[in-house]
Amino acid sequence: MLINNPHSLYEQAFREGWALGSFNTSNLEMTQAIAWGLQEKNSPGIIQTSESAIEYAGLVTLHDIISDVAKSVSVPVFLHLDHGRSFEIAEKCIHAGYKSVMIDGSKLSFDENVALTKKVVELAHQNDVWVEGEIGAIQGKEGMVSADIKMDDSMLTDPTEAVNFVAATGVDSLAVSVGTIHGAFRGEEKIRFERLREIHKVVKVPLVLHGASGLPPMEISQAVRLGIAKVNIDTELREAFHDSLEGVVTSEALAGQQKSVDPRKMLTPARKAVQAVVAEKVALLGSADKV
Ligand code: G3H
Ligand code: ZN
Repeated sequence: MLINNPHSLYEQAFREGWALGSFNTSNLEMTQAIAWGLQEKNSPGIIQTSESAIEYAGLVTLHDIISDVAKSVSVPVFLHLDHGRSFEIAEKCIHAGYKSVMIDGSKLSFDENVALTKKVVELAHQNDVWVEGEIGAIQGKEGMVSADIKMDDSMLTDPTEAVNFVAATGVDSLAVSVGTIHGAFRGEEKIRFERLREIHKVVKVPLVLHGASGLPPMEISQAVRLGIAKVNIDTELREAFHDSLEGVVTSEALAGQQKSVDPRKMLTPARKAVQAVVAEKVALLGSADKV
């Protein structure tokens, strides 16, 4: 079911100590896989689109695909803009019908980030739209599965800065940098729980964990107990999709079979593989059966 007011879900998750999974999509199959994974676990959840996904598929097309798929499942689902970097993209998404947007000014100075975020909050709140801001910065890039990356602690969120940022902007939730990296760098990323605890003690809005792909399951569950009410997952879904397609092509070649020239035959197992990852993540977030 497509819901138009995500506020109560965010607040419920934060209050009760579980998290909404927020999964990235850029096409029909990923969208169905996410919605079906949520439905399998009887869990509410978020389907999110980055600016590059919007460029790939088109804003209205993607919005309509997600809305239609969301309407076809029984669990509450809503649409979110992930890492919007400008006022213009946030404005376009709000006008297209998104009920939750992220404005990411983490590459700007503190004052510029406040000014941009505040402007988006003003427009969003006039339209009953939830706003996620970001303070501190998250390294890496979604889709990367190996790279020579070293965690840079100077990018971690400073608790005092976070409090000041929330007060100055009026954001509804806050993405924090606490050691995760965008991409699935297994064994390389480690949540700085002490930092997360300090932030949670002083910041009173729900916190958002980005870059959750590649994290050990226990770390995700522990973060959820420390004020994280939304967890973003992208790369592990892409990996599951990729590995499934690769499996189809490789096994055909090895068996000397004819190529599957029907995209539906290749995409059906890929969609299933992504659905399984969504269901597995939802179980860690504690959102199963919270409908
Ligand atoms: O905004 C999207 C995410 O933070 C996803 O990060 O690719 O490491 O799962 P990930
Ligand atoms: Zn992110």
